[in-house]
Amino acid sequence: MFVKVAKLGDIPAGEGRHYPVNGRMVAIFFVDGAYHAINDSCPHMGASLSAGYVEEGAVYCPWHAWRFSIHDGSWLDSPKSPLKCERYELRIEGDDILVEVPDPPPRQPSTPGDEGAG
Ligand code: FES
Repeated sequence: MFVKVAKLGDIPAGEGRHYPVNGRMVAIFFVDGAYHAINDSCPHMGASLSAGYVEEGAVYCPWHAWRFSIHDGSWLDSPKSPLKCERYELRIEGDDILVEVPDPPPRQPSTPGDEGAG
């Protein structure tokens, strides 16, 4: 489900802002006339990526300057690493910016394997 998070013009060109959506904090960047949405929490130690410096499609984490793609959340300093930020679908409706953040996966039973016992 898409949720309205901001209006066009709320995010200055070349910068990011963060918004709470469905239990997560989403960073939205407005760069070269387009909006991009990834998880705001840096996968290294949790800094807010929306506060980072943006250049050439990358955001530099404000704490240790690791670079992440604002397009797909990949870790640009180590492209083969599975470490990355989640990317979210974004759409514009009228003057509104909407983002879709999927529900977290359902909780697994704490004692797997119990089903067949007994
Ligand atoms: S917290 Fe982002 S690079 Fe360390």
